[in-house]
Amino acid sequence: MGTTMSQFPTVPVPVSRMKVLITRDQIARRVAEMGREITHDFEGHSLLLVGVLKGATIFLAELARSIELDATFDFFGVSSYADRTHPSGEVRLTKDVDMSLEDKTVILVEDILDTGLTMNYLKNIVLQHKPRSFKIASLLDKPSRRIQPIDADYLGFTIPNEFVVGYGLDYAEHYRNLPDICILPPDVCGAG
Ligand code: PRP
Repeated sequence: MGTTMSQFPTVPVPVSRMKVLITRDQIARRVAEMGREITHDFEGHSLLLVGVLKGATIFLAELARSIELDATFDFFGVSSYADRTHPSGEVRLTKDVDMSLEDKTVILVEDILDTGLTMNYLKNIVLQHKPRSFKIASLLDKPSRRIQPIDADYLGFTIPNEFVVGYGLDYAEHYRNLPDICILPPDVCGAG
């Protein structure tokens, strides 16, 4: 086990039963690269980074600090699943952005592209605002589960069909603060 967080006595699965898929060092290196790429691509522009609550918060915080450009933040709240093990196929907006996205250089920041339903739903909303430009940054992509096509313009890692937690990703709201991305044992989540 690569994580040092072994003292989670109340969680559904002990952290010791999880396998680390992506270490905090690998994440840090890749996020820094993504920040440099975005800095290069948008030189001279101010960015509006729009995170998707709650999973994207840690990634947005790290990515933003790797971008050497002026940036403002806003957030969408979305409810897509009762929990991620049982996709409902429905996406519901629980929080709209606070500011207009019109004529802004918008990067929508997600933790994971899974079925693609959430990102397609949000993409349609963002485009209705008529931004100057629109890009997608996602830490993870699980293409094997895609229902609706979508691609990230800036992608951290492509992962296999495993249920992952940590670095913002949850299981029943737990484990978001794990610094590594870990695989939840299949006997717990019952799905990939
Ligand atoms: C997760 C994740 C994405 C979405 C991706 O959110 O953070 O927003 O699912 O799944 P999709 O591609 O199948 O639509 P979740 O609903 O678990 O909420 P959370 O961000 O609060 O964890």
